[in-house]
Amino acid sequence: MPPTIPTQHPSHDERLSVTFVQPDGTRQVCRVRPGETVLDAALDNGVPGIVGQCGGGCTCATCHCYVAEPFRRHLPPPHPDEMDMLAYVWRPGPGSRLACQIRMSAELDGLIVAVPALQA
Ligand code: FES
Repeated sequence: MPPTIPTQHPSHDERLSVTFVQPDGTRQVCRVRPGETVLDAALDNGVPGIVGQCGGGCTCATCHCYVAEPFRRHLPPPHPDEMDMLAYVWRPGPGSRLACQIRMSAELDGLIVAVPALQA
């Protein structure tokens, strides 16, 4: 009888990682499923500084974050609604995005975002 080869269970962990970097340099690595947003990762893991007051509706700008440079090219350009809200964030800068508008995919695995010291 041939040996039994273990098969990978279909529910194996396919989650992706997002690292949040606080203004003091503290890092928090979170896991998120493909299709969930960076806001989901922050709220599910209690990341300080990512508020998400509107629940991801792109109407509050309290989920502002700075996407690290190597990952920016993998993001689609901001939707006009996101661009409008980014005008209200505290200290917009290179890589400024709204966490609720960043949907995770395999190419964003390992994403690093910095959390601003203040939200709008
Ligand atoms: S959660 Fe309100 S704009 Fe992102």
